[in-house]
Amino acid sequence: MDEQKRNIFIVDDEEPIRKVLNTHLAKEGYSVIQSSGGPSVFEMLKSNSFDLVISDIRMPEVDGIKVLDFVKESLGTVPVIMLTGLNDISIAIDVMKKGAFDFIMKPVRKEDLMNVVRKALVNRDLLVRNKELELENREYQLFLEQKVRERTKELNLKAMELQKAYGILKSMNIQFINVLAETIEAKDRHTRGHCNRMRQLCVELGTLAGLTPEELEMIEYASLLHDLGKIGINEAVLNKEGPLTEEECRHIKEHTLIGEKILNGVPLMEPVARIIVAHHENFNGTGYPRNLKGSDIPFAARIISVADLYDAMSSDRPYRKGLPLEVVMEEMRRVAGTQLDPGLVSLFIEGKVYRLE
Ligand SMILES: [Fe+2]
Repeated sequence: MDEQKRNIFIVDDEEPIRKVLNTHLAKEGYSVIQSSGGPSVFEMLKSNSFDLVISDIRMPEVDGIKVLDFVKESLGTVPVIMLTGLNDISIAIDVMKKGAFDFIMKPVRKEDLMNVVRKALVNRDLLVRNKELELENREYQLFLEQKVRERTKELNLKAMELQKAYGILKSMNIQFINVLAETIEAKDRHTRGHCNRMRQLCVELGTLAGLTPEELEMIEYASLLHDLGKIGINEAVLNKEGPLTEEECRHIKEHTLIGEKILNGVPLMEPVARIIVAHHENFNGTGYPRNLKGSDIPFAARIISVADLYDAMSSDRPYRKGLPLEVVMEEMRRVAGTQLDPGLVSLFIEGKVYRLE
């Protein structure tokens, strides 16, 4: 900053001292305003802009401490240099503690005066710059915070829209799958309502088994679609009363692979395809189509097998009534470990999954 334009305020009740100071400072190009003290000092300080205050300590009415306090309180970064006599050294130390920048002993030597004044002004410039930076920093921080708030709001809105869109898609998906499931049931008159019951039983058993929401969603689809492949099975064979020939049996068993093939052509349905192809695998490896055994059979497919056997035995068929619960349970226990996963059979029975109906 240009030192020539600096304004310095001098307060001293002794005119000769003011004059000396004024002469020294004016020679160095500073602009000086003087005051002999008294209450008008505060008005003068308030109504002018100063870069530095030089104040005597001992003055009648308003002493240097009051001037210092006022400047510290009202003018923040303006440094105050105190003038002190030899007898005032302890007071000078006190004013330093109160925030004076420095003190000069009387009689004032020009060299001392200029030294302290320059230092005080450099210090003042640093303080002012520091305050400006703090302010800029704070403003920038507020600006960033505002940006973050706006962006968060936008993102939340987008997330809500996505959530909504996902909900719609999911509901369309399940509706579409329901239509498919009904199509399967329409083809096979033995199994009315079977798919929807399967869905309830499998989701309940899967929940008891501790499946994640994503796994439950997959099992929901797989339970509805497990017999999807029956679309490719001859209706006459599917609805035939009485025993099936070996060839007819082989044909019916193809529904697992047909279902898998259909779903493998649908993006995102591959996990469901892997489940439904295995819903006729037996726990001991004697099932079809791939003779998978134990934990090689997808867990969800083992759940479907348990629910499938239960539903096939307990529900009414056009040619017979559903079997009593005790008989069904007994049969399930009998095939636990051979046809069905024994752990899931226990869970099904102990968890009373059948109560859903
Ligand atoms: Fe099946």
